[in-house]
Amino acid sequence: MENKPHTWETPFENTLASLAENHLLRGLTSTDSGANTSIIQNGKKMLSFGGNNYLGLASHPKLMAASIDAIQTWGVGAGASRLISGNSRLYETLETEIARLKLCEAAVVFPSGYTANVGTLSTLIGEGDLVLFDRLNHASLLDGVRLSKGKLRVYRHKDIKQLESLLFKRPANQKAWIVTDGIFSMDGDIAPLPEIVSLAKQYDAVVYLDDAHATGVLGKEGRGTSEYFSIHSDRIIQMGTFSKALGSFGGFIAGSNTLIQYLINKARSLIYTTALPPAVLAASYAALQLIQEEEGVALRKKLWANTDQLRHALTDLGFDIGDSATPIIPLRVNDTNLALTFSNLLFEAGIAIPAIRPPTVPKGQSRLRMTVMATHTQAEIAYLIQTLKEIGCLSKII
Ligand SMILES: Cc1ncc(COP(=O)(O)O)c(C=O)c1O
Repeated sequence: MENKPHTWETPFENTLASLAENHLLRGLTSTDSGANTSIIQNGKKMLSFGGNNYLGLASHPKLMAASIDAIQTWGVGAGASRLISGNSRLYETLETEIARLKLCEAAVVFPSGYTANVGTLSTLIGEGDLVLFDRLNHASLLDGVRLSKGKLRVYRHKDIKQLESLLFKRPANQKAWIVTDGIFSMDGDIAPLPEIVSLAKQYDAVVYLDDAHATGVLGKEGRGTSEYFSIHSDRIIQMGTFSKALGSFGGFIAGSNTLIQYLINKARSLIYTTALPPAVLAASYAALQLIQEEEGVALRKKLWANTDQLRHALTDLGFDIGDSATPIIPLRVNDTNLALTFSNLLFEAGIAIPAIRPPTVPKGQSRLRMTVMATHTQAEIAYLIQTLKEIGCLSKII
């Protein structure tokens, strides 16, 4: 076949070819079902252990009914940005409820968790500020810091000693921010928040806490990492999202009245984009109510029972699940090709668990990222454990 002439797309084609050669090419798989414990992919019914719908709320009848009602009342689109005319009353109700959940004065909803992180960090961090950043923080946090004019210093994962030494060395007049996930999204471990907050007090720093995976999951009431550690500090800016345990969509920041007013005036990812659809806001509000009711408490209890069962079984079998302490359980195989093969073998056995590869995780740390839901049955978890055991033995991982 004749060589294709060089076009402006050739460098992209070369990059894609190189990604494929290194088992790093990504692709989109269509799903023909809701985000439940069973999903349909490529026409096949699969048991899913790969999403973030921890409490099963994404298809909960109460959230669906709230969305349908909102569509009938408000229509499907907001029609404008929040500061123009898209700020439906649903926002106010939702933000009051978020502030209540997070025990803060106020809250503001962003279009997504990603835009909450990018918009807030890039707005708050001033020129020359020191930003101390856990190495395994989510990409959206990094993008937010990169958009600011702060000085980024990455510390080793959860390394409090290194964090303290970086705080200690900074000039007295330099403002400092400590940015951390509450639950780390690819490892499922929990940030040492008590130590971080204590350093923030000692060295006069502000903590930015990404509670995307902790909201609805950690703490008796589902308030997140602060509740889990019984910490209440006005040095913490709490970020969260509705897109994980809360089953809906949209991000938020909770904090003081001043902070929230400042973001409404300055955060570009809030100002220069259309407001969320009413159906989304209504579902989010229904989710917030539900997680604080008896049903939510029961779902959280079941989520943790399922999580403990799977974590213990995998550890007993000899799998490396790192420091996972939450419904996010990584099965570390390290080799990229092995992670892909493992994921494909699981797919053949009817189980959907994604292989997570660089750049989402550091080089040499590829893994299967497993997640548990409150709505998984005992039989489904038992089938997963048995299948992992068979494939693990076959691939000589255990
Ligand atoms: C830790 C963390 N922060 C932020 C986000 C972004 O949230 P969203 O999906 O709502 O944009 C995610 C998930 O994608 C996440 O895992």
